[in-house]
Amino acid sequence: MVRLPFIAGNWKMNKTVREAVDLVKELKATLSGVKGVEVAVAPPFTALDAVRREIEGSSILLAAQNVYWEEKGAFTGEISSLMLKEVGCHYVIIGHSERRQFFGETDETVSRRIKTALTQGLKVMFCIGETLKEREEGKTFSVIERQVEVGLKGLGPQELRGITVAYEPVWAIGTGKTATPDQAEEVHRYVRGKLEGLYSKIISEEIRIQYGGSVTPENIKGLMAQPNIDGALVGGASLKAESFSKIVRFREL
Ligand code: 13P
Repeated sequence: MVRLPFIAGNWKMNKTVREAVDLVKELKATLSGVKGVEVAVAPPFTALDAVRREIEGSSILLAAQNVYWEEKGAFTGEISSLMLKEVGCHYVIIGHSERRQFFGETDETVSRRIKTALTQGLKVMFCIGETLKEREEGKTFSVIERQVEVGLKGLGPQELRGITVAYEPVWAIGTGKTATPDQAEEVHRYVRGKLEGLYSKIISEEIRIQYGGSVTPENIKGLMAQPNIDGALVGGASLKAESFSKIVRFREL
């Protein structure tokens, strides 16, 4: 099964509208002509519209960093799937560890967000990953198992096709401490096996699993060489056109 590699940049709470437009202008230039890889950027909400206008006609796809599960109403501070679709989002990141850590996200709220986003026609980058403490206590696989089982609960096989899983070990995010290709592959293989158990072999082979956590132009090639690593969700290195486009062009490194 050949899975199209998928590289996405999560800009987190960075970039004013002006900075976002400048970055994406540069990206359009440095990424023109790139083939055989899907690319998305996830600017903050305030820059989505401006970035969408800039990437129109290019192959770069727009992603948001979070979404609420209700369609509309009295939910101060939240954004709905419909609003994200309207502004041109193709993808939404759900369940990022920073949301789980700082904003009280649980596997259950992650699951509700995923369900609504898919129903409304967004594709989802579904983030999972263990903390350093959990890894040291030997709980990596049980944590991943729970996150996958609860996060995807109630999704049928057709809905699952709208999901990309992003494995982001919390200890590797923003720390400069990447998981080794072997460490990442071990978890990716486990996730694929889990998806096979929950759905089927065919579907588990179709789903892409990205790695995230201190991905750089220096380590991307080794990661992408692993059979179950199908892309990357890039934080810090996605904030500069030079490093992000090198990561996207990993085959040329
Ligand atoms: P860094 O690439 O900065 O470690 O962030 C990874 C991440 O959290 C992407 O969602």
